Amino acid sequence: MSEPRQRCVVRAPATTANLGPGFDCLGLALDLWNEARFALEGEGVAVAVTGEGAGYLPADESNLVARAALRVYAEVGEAPPTGLRIECTVRVPLSSGLGSSSSAIVAGLLGGNELLGRPLGRDRLLELAAGLEGHPDNVAAALFGGLTIVVQKSERLLTKTILVPEVYLALAVPELPFSTDAARAGLPTEVTMRDAVFNMGRIPLVVEALRTGDFELLGQVMDDRLHQANRLRLIPGGRTAWEAAQRSGAAAVAISGSGPSLIAFVSLAAEAGVVARAMAEAFAAEGVPARPLGLSASSAGATVLP
Ligand code: HSE
Repeated sequence: MSEPRQRCVVRAPATTANLGPGFDCLGLALDLWNEARFALEGEGVAVAVTGEGAGYLPADESNLVARAALRVYAEVGEAPPTGLRIECTVRVPLSSGLGSSSSAIVAGLLGGNELLGRPLGRDRLLELAAGLEGHPDNVAAALFGGLTIVVQKSERLLTKTILVPEVYLALAVPELPFSTDAARAGLPTEVTMRDAVFNMGRIPLVVEALRTGDFELLGQVMDDRLHQANRLRLIPGGRTAWEAAQRSGAAAVAISGSGPSLIAFVSLAAEAGVVARAMAEAFAAEGVPARPLGLSASSAGATVLP
């Protein structure tokens, strides 16, 4: 525990989950940050949003950052504060497969925890975050940073964070209405032993390739038989953009989280822009406007700013 606070500032990163074969168990923090400023003042809950989702995201206690902050109060048996003001600067594109809801949840949980004097440790915050999000991989990477592996163990979540050297990523974020719930609902509930084995062997190799910066290995093993084929069918232009990334020099390509963004790994920072533009142009050629983005991985997870 520390002293309760009247105000605090938290930042939480974007994340990309699955990384090909690691469905629901691998997440990578990205160097793109949402920021939330919390203050105990006024009456009721008021949330102001600038950036992505401004004018669209709720301004009251139904806002995800606020819900997460208040979840900590409920968890420790504290009455909600009389007044809570939250100013959010949202940089992670919404509904894009870049962990925007996880970033919001983690920012809210860290903010609520900080206002209360840090009654909860990060492992408990992770469990609350996964409960709010519905799956643990994005929230784990958002909380712990780097390449985070997460597994369910009875009622608990077990994580291990692997630091990765400089990793550059090219993304295309298509403007498509998309929901993770719908993308999850389209997946089979059972898979064959053959497909499970296909993914199982590749997961540690993806981790090892990222840990050692071995992009040749990454290109050979970032492949999946559990979710990507189903999901690619839900992303108009996705197949074309995937092939454009490969042609323009990407070492490996995957659907970011549940999509619709595609994420490509490149070995040099300078290649990220080229590959991102090639993917965005391929989407556009299929009638789907898409934003190109070049990002790097972040070894840091969410933090309370001093
Ligand atoms: N593992 C989750 C899924 C990530 O694939 O549904 C969602 O971002």
